Amino acid sequence: MRCPVHLALIWASARLVAAESTSNTTYLTATALVTKGNDSAFECWQLTEPFRRASVPGISGAQIVTISNNTDLAYSIIPPRFDGGIHNAPVPQIVHFLSGLAYLTLPHNETEAWVVGGVGGLLFAVDTVGTGHRTQYPSDQETVAIALPFAEGKIPDHTVLVEGPCNGEQTFV
Ligand SMILES: *[C@@H]1O[C@H](CO)[C@@H](O)[C@H](O)[C@H]1NC(C)=O
Ligand SMILES: *[C@@H]1O[C@H](CO)[C@@H](O)[C@H](O)[C@H]1NC(C)=O
Ligand SMILES: *[C@@H]1O[C@H](CO)[C@@H](O)[C@H](O)[C@H]1NC(C)=O
Ligand SMILES: *[C@@H]1O[C@H](CO)[C@@H](O)[C@H](O)[C@H]1NC(C)=O
Repeated sequence: MRCPVHLALIWASARLVAAESTSNTTYLTATALVTKGNDSAFECWQLTEPFRRASVPGISGAQIVTISNNTDLAYSIIPPRFDGGIHNAPVPQIVHFLSGLAYLTLPHNETEAWVVGGVGGLLFAVDTVGTGHRTQYPSDQETVAIALPFAEGKIPDHTVLVEGPCNGEQTFV
């Protein structure tokens, strides 16, 4: 039986100080792998749902955003210097790299993205059809990743900030 996972991300408030100086509304942004025409492509997504103040015990007052309902959480430990080859996202999902390094390239486009494991290691992988992408893990460390398929394939509402990977300037706009 599938056990739904209710995913919410919480960020340390220190990282939000700059964004809050003009407005207290902050949004999660992350790079996405999408299908455009028949090709995989990068986009920088900003979720439509803003961070709010959590009221749940234990993290009351923290910044929180509910992203999606998810199924079948998978925890992967990828060896150092691994090449995942060209593939499509098996299902529309969130992948969060917790450690290590992922290097993403496209077969028909020179645009590339580096995803460093850690707080910035979030990726939306929804290119389930088309030419796919190649993921390499070039570091000497294991890359640990959590993958969370979206329940019923429902992708969270978002706007596209950049027709390419997020470049760091889009964090917490
Ligand atoms: C995608 O590929 C199919 C099959 O090769 C082709 O019929 C279709 O026109 C292509 N679509 C685009 C948008 O290039
Ligand atoms: C922003 O301010 C509004 C109004 O004061 C408040 O309702 C909301 O919870 C605040 N949002 C955050 C993320 O602090
Ligand atoms: C998750 O599922 C519940 C129950 O169907 C629904 O009320 C809620 O809106 C869903 N949340 C999201 C973020 O889709
Ligand atoms: C490569 O991808 C970028 C970002 O999506 C796009 O702007 C550019 O036109 C693409 N280049 C080619 C040759 O398709």
